[in-house]
Amino acid sequence: MFSLYSYYLLLLVLALNTSSNFGNMETEALLIWKASLLNHSPSLLPTWTISNSSSYFNTTTTPCTWFGISCNNARNVVKLNVSSLGLQGNLRDLTILYLWENQLSGSIPPEIGNLKSLVDLQLAINTLTGSIPASLGNLSDLTTLYLYDNQLSGSIPLEIGNLKSLVDLLLYTNTLTGSIPPSLGNLSDLTTLYLNENQLSGSIPPEIGNLKSLVDLELNNNILTGSIPASLGNLSNLTTLNLFENQLFGFIPPEIGNLQSLESLALFTNNLSGTIPASLGNLSDLTTLYLHKSQLSGSIPPEIGNLKSLEILALYTNTLTGSIPASLGNLSDLTTLYFYDNQLSGSIPPEIGNLKSLVDLEINTNNLSGTIPASLGELPNEIGSLSELDHLDISYNNLSGPVPKEVGNVPSYYI
Ligand SMILES: *[C@@H]1O[C@H](CO)[C@@H](O)[C@H](O)[C@H]1NC(C)=O
Ligand SMILES: *[C@@H]1O[C@H](CO)[C@@H](O)[C@H](O)[C@H]1NC(C)=O
Ligand SMILES: *[C@@H]1O[C@H](CO)[C@@H](O)[C@H](O)[C@H]1NC(C)=O
Ligand SMILES: *[C@@H]1O[C@H](CO)[C@@H](O)[C@H](O)[C@H]1NC(C)=O
Ligand SMILES: *[C@@H]1O[C@H](CO)[C@@H](O)[C@H](O)[C@H]1NC(C)=O
Ligand SMILES: *[C@@H]1O[C@H](CO)[C@@H](O)[C@H](O)[C@H]1NC(C)=O
Ligand SMILES: *[C@@H]1O[C@H](CO)[C@@H](O)[C@H](O)[C@H]1NC(C)=O
Ligand SMILES: *[C@@H]1O[C@H](CO)[C@@H](O)[C@H](O)[C@H]1NC(C)=O
Ligand SMILES: *[C@@H]1O[C@H](CO)[C@@H](O)[C@H](O)[C@H]1NC(C)=O
Ligand SMILES: *[C@@H]1O[C@H](CO)[C@@H](O)[C@H](O)[C@H]1NC(C)=O
Ligand SMILES: *[C@@H]1O[C@H](CO)[C@@H](O)[C@H](O)[C@H]1NC(C)=O
Ligand SMILES: *[C@@H]1O[C@H](CO)[C@@H](O)[C@H](O)[C@H]1NC(C)=O
Repeated sequence: MFSLYSYYLLLLVLALNTSSNFGNMETEALLIWKASLLNHSPSLLPTWTISNSSSYFNTTTTPCTWFGISCNNARNVVKLNVSSLGLQGNLRDLTILYLWENQLSGSIPPEIGNLKSLVDLQLAINTLTGSIPASLGNLSDLTTLYLYDNQLSGSIPLEIGNLKSLVDLLLYTNTLTGSIPPSLGNLSDLTTLYLNENQLSGSIPPEIGNLKSLVDLELNNNILTGSIPASLGNLSNLTTLNLFENQLFGFIPPEIGNLQSLESLALFTNNLSGTIPASLGNLSDLTTLYLHKSQLSGSIPPEIGNLKSLEILALYTNTLTGSIPASLGNLSDLTTLYFYDNQLSGSIPPEIGNLKSLVDLEINTNNLSGTIPASLGELPNEIGSLSELDHLDISYNNLSGPVPKEVGNVPSYYI
């Protein structure tokens, strides 16, 4: 591909995507690299300079007019072609290497691990194959590593756990196999970890619970097994936890209820068993709760009614029993309630009529019954008062009594 030490020919096609706030980062990276060139090489790039009249942090100071540089209309550098100039030097002082969204193929050269000054390495959205080189673990200043949307295979090198400065690790949508290295638990500054949409197997290492800075953890769409580590309950800044579409089993650890910042919890399509922990009622910022398509049993904890920010509650296709808690009537932001395909019994609580934001209510295919006739008579009046309701499915239950005319106001209904 390219030799990293002799730049008699350098042709790099870059796709830099820096926002206007950081427009001068491109300039800075290029000037630092120019300064690192050997012998008379810097003088071969006379146009690569900032004029005294423009402020260094002036975002109009882009290198677009420099020799060998091409920009798009947004004044981002899209191409760097300084081939055949006889430049001598290396890329070791390069801090930013963005090659994303191109049609680069072949494997990532292990020599990239020699670019010791790299802070930001983005090779995402290409057709790169082969494995992730272990040598990347040598890039001790790296804060950002984006390799997503490629065709990378093999396992995640445990050496990635050496990247102590790493903040964002995005490896999603590849064909990575093997297990998640426990060494990733050493990345104490990591805020984003996306390993989703790969073929990762084995269990989730408990060491992930050491990543105290983590805000977003997405391991969904893999073939992970084992149980969810209780240690994840230590991730106090976590806002998103996506573990769906894996083969996880065992209980949902009650410690998940400690994740006070959590806004979205998606554990669906796994093989989770046991009851829904009452502690989930502590997640006051939660807007979406997806626990459907597992083997959860027991009754729905009334504490779910404490989740005042909840908009979507999906518990369908489990083996939940007991009755629908009246406390759910407190969820004033709830738009979607899917409890279908369970074994819920008892009557539909009249408090469901308090859910003013409800658009879609599907509680069909359960064992719900009407406590004849009074409560059932109440039900349709309440449902008729849900002005936003667009879809109602209460079919395949043991409900009895007449169908009240108010139900006719709902655009789509199945009784
Ligand atoms: C590229 O930049 C645009 C605008 O600055 C931004 O909306 C987009 O998300 C960026 N894409 C990536 C992959 O960072
Ligand atoms: C910029 O200004 C400094 C002194 O203020 C001067 O030495 C230098 O030659 C100037 N550079 C250019 C490119 O004009
Ligand atoms: C930025 O620099 C350009 C010329 O390089 C100048 O015309 C413009 O006034 C400067 N803007 C600011 C905000 O300094
Ligand atoms: C790069 O620059 C060389 C020399 O100026 C030129 O021959 C070549 O066509 C350029 N290639 C691209 C892809 O711009
Ligand atoms: C870089 O990484 C490779 C593979 O992990 C290792 O063998 C090599 O010793 C490292 N080199 C340096 C200079 O750290
Ligand atoms: C990194 O993690 C591994 C596995 O969890 C551990 O054995 C090792 O001691 C850690 N290294 C450092 C330097 O923290
Ligand atoms: C958690 O987030 C807060 C607010 O953004 C921040 O001050 C704090 O340092 C974070 N904690 C960790 C361990 O990163
Ligand atoms: C992390 O979680 C585990 C399991 O819940 C617990 O035993 C441990 O004390 C926690 N560690 C810290 C540092 O909070
Ligand atoms: C799911 O878990 C049950 C026991 O909880 C077990 O019998 C079953 O084989 C598991 N299914 C899969 C696909 O792992
Ligand atoms: C979390 O929920 C459990 C069970 O509902 C409760 O006993 C506990 O006090 C709650 N903890 C916090 C910190 O709110
Ligand atoms: C929540 O709902 C229950 C049962 O309907 C009710 O007793 C309770 O007062 C409600 N709590 C709040 C805070 O609205
Ligand atoms: C449905 O509920 C009735 C009582 O209302 C109970 O007798 C019956 O066993 C339940 N059926 C199932 C399949 O759970």
